[in-house]
Amino acid sequence: FLGSTADLPLLGKKIVVTAGPTRERIDPVRYISNFSSGKMGYAMAEVAAELGADTVLISGPVDLPKPSGVKLVQVESAAEMLESVLSYYDDASMVIKSAAVADYRPKEQHAQKMKKKDGDSTIELERTTDILKTLGDKKEKQILVGFAAETNDAIGYGKSKLTNKNLDYIIVNDVTDPGGGFGNDTNVVTLLTRKGNQYPFESMQKNELAKVLLKTIIAEEWPNSN
Ligand code: CTP
Ligand code: CA
Repeated sequence: FLGSTADLPLLGKKIVVTAGPTRERIDPVRYISNFSSGKMGYAMAEVAAELGADTVLISGPVDLPKPSGVKLVQVESAAEMLESVLSYYDDASMVIKSAAVADYRPKEQHAQKMKKKDGDSTIELERTTDILKTLGDKKEKQILVGFAAETNDAIGYGKSKLTNKNLDYIIVNDVTDPGGGFGNDTNVVTLLTRKGNQYPFESMQKNELAKVLLKTIIAEEWPNSN
């Protein structure tokens, strides 16, 4: 018995999830990164697999165990994450971009450890590629889901990212909300859809939230699957 489609609404679907921070190297011993724990993305991948999806989790460096039932691909930089995501994109039904991708990287990567000098210093930065926008620009049938962590006007910024990156869904949260954010086990988010629907969710555990978020998206996309 393989389960009914009600138990496994994502059976036969390929889902790509990205999670965690990226690391952008300065020299062999230093990098630029952020505080993303990867918990939300790992929870999304685990739930996608539980719901029957053939799931690939492309992860930056995090301190979390591999969720059961997923294929884990470990990457370091935004450039590596882009390359990996693109390699799975053509066959994907859905891409969920939970990763906190660095917006900038050092313009130069020094081959040797940089030595300190007297006085102040600067590091020149250049933009990384916006992975999600790249996917949005070449989208065919894929469903694209973004995340946006904001400190103010979360809904407003979320809506413009939804449009600018050609997404189908964006999950926004205000990281200053005491009910959730970077590193916490709980999160409080609003799901915005391309069609203009808004689903606000109360603060809950990230794995529970992953379940309701995916079920809401499934109900919007494939209403006959449950
Ligand atoms: N994202 C991405 N590639 C980047 C930057 C962001 O794929 N180089 C994705 C993130 O994974 C997330 C979404 O875009 O799903 C929104 O990320 P966010 O950092 O909130 O938006 P930015 O467009 O980078 O804008 P800003 O940081 O200025 O708010
Ligand atoms: Ca950003």
